[in-house]
Amino acid sequence: MEERKKLTIPDLWDMVARGEKITFLTAYDYPTALLEDRAGVDMILVGDSAAMCMLGHKTTLPATMDFMVTITAAVSRAVTRAFVVGDMPYMSYQPSDEIAIKNAGRFIAEGGADAVKLEGGARAAERVEAIVRAGIPVMGHIGLTPQAASLIGGLKAQGRSAQTAKQLIEDAKTLEEAGAFAILLEAIPARVAELIVKRAKVPILGIGSGPACHGQLLIVHDILSLFEAFTPKFVKRYADVASVMRQAFEAYVREVKEGVFPGPEHTYKIPKEEWEALLRLLGEDAG
Ligand code: KIV
Repeated sequence: MEERKKLTIPDLWDMVARGEKITFLTAYDYPTALLEDRAGVDMILVGDSAAMCMLGHKTTLPATMDFMVTITAAVSRAVTRAFVVGDMPYMSYQPSDEIAIKNAGRFIAEGGADAVKLEGGARAAERVEAIVRAGIPVMGHIGLTPQAASLIGGLKAQGRSAQTAKQLIEDAKTLEEAGAFAILLEAIPARVAELIVKRAKVPILGIGSGPACHGQLLIVHDILSLFEAFTPKFVKRYADVASVMRQAFEAYVREVKEGVFPGPEHTYKIPKEEWEALLRLLGEDAG
């Protein structure tokens, strides 16, 4: 059987050094994580996008620590190789270093994650430094940061002016200096991402940030066509799982209504002598 060693941060850094692209997908549950891990996905993000994709919220803000830790643990139980990153939800790290360290620790101890991710550039650097000092690896996240949607003008691409692009380049450097082991760029122009990659000493992962990044992240519900509220420009749909599910549900409804399901092959049998004994007990006729 193929040996499945759990990936570590040095393994990810080695992949970057030899020019191998890192594959990164979100997962929020055991069966999806199992399939991603066995398919060779290198990193799994248990994203707070679960609040939208799994719970039907309009934003990521309602995700709670208890919810995130529960689904992170489900993902971790499925994984034998992929590096698991737990996404720190809104207000789980912003208030203070102490709160941030305590909640990051829950992702590791209760959720079985290998690292945590939090949003923000320079404004988050102090928290990144504190969590790293506590011995927990942190991935930075800049560009489109959904927890700060109203601050950055909505869920839209960032860094499209010279000034904001320069700020992103500085943010990446600040996060690297604060100790982030990797940085995620979300929805920033490919040429700006390329400048960040050129200057970086840590792996740069991208979602909607072009091909220069050391690795690519996508949201699993997007690539499977399971999230239909909106589709960002950078999403590629790899399968229409929604259609497959819809067809299965419709066939089930039809077969139950028509009495086709369950058939004899789905039905348990009582041995003949037990059946006859039962009828005798009930005083009913065998015929
Ligand atoms: O929650 C999430 O899935 C994320 C990605 C969109 C980057 O943070």
